[in-house]
Amino acid sequence: MNMFASPSSSKAIQYRQVSASIDISVRSMDFTFPDEIPEFWFSNNPLLTLLLTALSSAFPDGERQFIHSVRHYQNKIEDPILLQQVRAFIGQEAHHGKEHDVLNGVMLKKGYPVDRIYKRFKKMNRLMQTQFSPAHQLACTVCMEHLTAILSDYFISTAPEDLALFNVHLRKIWVWHAIEETEHKAVAFDVYQSLVNRPYFLRLVMLETTLSFVLVTGRGTIELLRHSGRQRDLKGLYQGLGYLFGRKGLVRNISKAYLDFFSADFHPWQHDNRNMMRLLKNQYFNEQ
Ligand SMILES: [Fe+2]
Ligand SMILES: [Fe+2]
Repeated sequence: MNMFASPSSSKAIQYRQVSASIDISVRSMDFTFPDEIPEFWFSNNPLLTLLLTALSSAFPDGERQFIHSVRHYQNKIEDPILLQQVRAFIGQEAHHGKEHDVLNGVMLKKGYPVDRIYKRFKKMNRLMQTQFSPAHQLACTVCMEHLTAILSDYFISTAPEDLALFNVHLRKIWVWHAIEETEHKAVAFDVYQSLVNRPYFLRLVMLETTLSFVLVTGRGTIELLRHSGRQRDLKGLYQGLGYLFGRKGLVRNISKAYLDFFSADFHPWQHDNRNMMRLLKNQYFNEQ
């Protein structure tokens, strides 16, 4: 028995219809950041800022790996809407990499070894390209897209008021990235479902991806934190850990959406956050 909905089940068709209706816009941003951005630009907290910095350091090459994994299947896609969405997905991810390079430059200028994290992650991706099958690489992308979608949704639907915790000069790049991750959250999944469709394998890859995501991000954060000299700032650590793992913390809030990935008829658009996304698009990009 296939525990994921078959691509022809009524629920799968319903989700795919939502997916197909999403207008995925490639926005060219050209962000610049002034030098006076404070060192700890999220909630004035070293741990949380450096966690986001570790994520941002891995983004540029991570986004390129996502593109690489999807491109492999591009010629086999028959659905013209999905093909169009794959092109937009590639465009969006390429821009994310470029803009996060600029943000990473800000932290590099402040002396943080973000280039070391970047290079280490790049090596890992090259290894993946030589050791993993195309289906395995695509599955990794599907899983990473789920992780980025639920993290984005935390700031879009669950706690949009927390966007105010970003320094004003950096808020827009994170909002922009969260919106676009939401717009294209089902693209890799739809490609996987239509051309690979090995649900059990995908679940195993989710466990593998989650573990490596936690290890890579955790290691990067600890490195950056040591560099900041704030690794013994107990108040800052307590506040940061509380934000992440507290009773009303981020991890608790996204855990249900994370686990939904393992359920029978999972599809990224079963978490329908179009309305909240529309509000942010309107607020930050004057889009209707
Ligand atoms: Fe992205
Ligand atoms: Fe993405």
